[in-house]
Amino acid sequence: MQKFHTQLTTIIDDLTENGYAICEDFLPAQIIQALAGKAEERYIDGEMLVAKTGKNANTQHSAIRSDSIYWLDEDSLNNSTQTYFAKIEALKVALNQNLFMNLHDIETHLAVYPIGGVYLKHLDQFKQINNGTALIPAQVRQLSSVLYLNDNWQADEGGELRLHLNDTASNNGSKYIDILPIAGRLVLFLSADFWHEVLPATRNRISLTGWFRTRVS
Ligand code: OGA
Ligand code: MN
Repeated sequence: MQKFHTQLTTIIDDLTENGYAICEDFLPAQIIQALAGKAEERYIDGEMLVAKTGKNANTQHSAIRSDSIYWLDEDSLNNSTQTYFAKIEALKVALNQNLFMNLHDIETHLAVYPIGGVYLKHLDQFKQINNGTALIPAQVRQLSSVLYLNDNWQADEGGELRLHLNDTASNNGSKYIDILPIAGRLVLFLSADFWHEVLPATRNRISLTGWFRTRVS
């Protein structure tokens, strides 16, 4: 496994150049396995929430996204989540120091997509948040991060994160890259800049998603 310092250098370079970065083996394999185990347990025990989208969070749009989620907070800390938070915090500090990103905190959830589950093309940050009109939330998602927890994931099992490389909702001919949800892989991208989607898979797809937020005052 690469040293954290080396991983950070690559992440900082790639974010600067492309607005996104892919880092392999972000955490040790046994931590990834423990996180996956926790997610599976909660999924099987029915402790996860069916994810909601859109402005009215009371409506369920299973056609838009079909994952079940579990928000992580101080109460849900254990060995593996603590290791995750420690490293993600160190990443935050490094990004603030090197890229002046002003990242303040992170919101995080485990997610399980069932077989065939998708998340249609979307942005993690609503553009209109920044235009100075009313109802500006106190926290704005600045940088999206997805850590994949799927042991031995094969290319023909699908479930790619499709990251669109030009900034448009409906450009069907757009350039994109497909990223397999391989255990230990961390994907980072600027939340306001990248439309993205989750493609269907032939097995359950597990991830730990986090959004670094800036404080707006
Ligand atoms: C999300 C999301 C991508 C992925 O949760 O907003 O886009 O690859 N997830 O799980
Ligand atoms: Mn997203």
